[in-house]
Amino acid sequence: MPTIGSDAPPRVHVTFALPPGAAAELAGTGLQIDSAGEGDGDARSELLAGVSGASGIISTVTDRIDAEVMDAAGPGLRVIANFGVGYDNIDVAAARERGVIVTNTPGVLDNATADVAFALLLATARRIVESDRFVRAGTPWTWESDFFVGLDVSAGATLGIVGLGRIGMAVARRAAAFDMTILATGSRAASAEAGALGVRQVELPELLASSDVVSLHCPLTPETRHLIGAEELRAMKANAILINTARGPIVDELALVEALTDGVIGAAGLDVYEWEPAVSAGLLNLPNVVTVPHIGSAGRATRERMGSLAVRNAAAVLAGEEPLNPVG
Ligand code: DGY
Repeated sequence: MPTIGSDAPPRVHVTFALPPGAAAELAGTGLQIDSAGEGDGDARSELLAGVSGASGIISTVTDRIDAEVMDAAGPGLRVIANFGVGYDNIDVAAARERGVIVTNTPGVLDNATADVAFALLLATARRIVESDRFVRAGTPWTWESDFFVGLDVSAGATLGIVGLGRIGMAVARRAAAFDMTILATGSRAASAEAGALGVRQVELPELLASSDVVSLHCPLTPETRHLIGAEELRAMKANAILINTARGPIVDELALVEALTDGVIGAAGLDVYEWEPAVSAGLLNLPNVVTVPHIGSAGRATRERMGSLAVRNAAAVLAGEEPLNPVG
C-alpha cells in the first residue's frame, strides 16, 4: 500500500463490479485499483478494510458511505464518486468536513429510468403482470367484456409527477406522447420545456387529488422521507396508481400496504423499497402491485455511461482537476 507522499499513483477502491467498458476505462487511468469485484457491494467490514488508505472510492447506491468509512479510508481520501444519480447513501456533510469531494452520475440514466417508470405505469394500469400470472396458472378463460379492465392511459388519464427534474421530464415526454394530462410539482414544472409538453405546475395536494397516476421523481432527503404516507394516500383518487422509481423511503411502505389492501388506492408499481432489498411481505401478496428490483437504470449502455462518468469524476479529482459532477 503506498504511503502518502510516495510517487505511487493514488489508489481507488471500487466497491462493486464496474461494467466492463468502465472497468477498462478505469484501468487506463494509471490509478491503482482494488475492487470488491463481486456481488452488489461490500459487506460492511470488507468495505471498511477495503477503503483503508484509498485516495478515491467508487461506490454505488447500496453502500452506506458515512464518517466511519471516510475515517477508515484515512486522511488521504479525496473523492467519493458514486455510481448513481441519487447520493442519499453518502454523508455529504461528513465528506465536506473532511475536504472530500462527492460526485454522482446525473443525466445519463434519465431515459432508462423513465422507461421503467412508464413500464410500471402501463403494467399496473393495464394489469399486465396480473393477466400474465392468470394465463400461466392455466385458468380456463374466454374473452369477456369486463375481463381485466383497467385504466385507459391514453387520451384522458392524468399523470402527476412529484419532483419534475431530469428524470421526471423524461417521464413527462413519454406521457405527452400518450396524450396524458400532466401535472407536476417542482420548479422545473414552470419551465418552457415543461410548458411545451403541456405540464401544469401544481402543489402536492392538488396533484394527489387530481391524478390517476402519481409518479415519484424527487430525491430522498430529510424533507421527502415519508412524503407519501397514510394521509397522502387517502388524498389520492380511489383507483389511483402510485409509481415509485425514486427511493423507497419517500413512501411509508406499511401505510402503502394498508392503502392497497383496503382499496384506498388502486395499484402500485414499485422499483424501490423502504427497507431495500427487503420488500414488505404485504406488498408481495397483493395482485395489484408490480414489483421490480431497483432496475431503473439497468440498461446496458446506461450502466456503461454511469460507470464512465464515475471513473472520470474520480480520475479528475485525483489528477487535481475539477470533477464533472460535484454534489453538495
Ligand atoms: C440512481 O442512479 O440513483 C439509481 O437509483 C441507481 O440505479
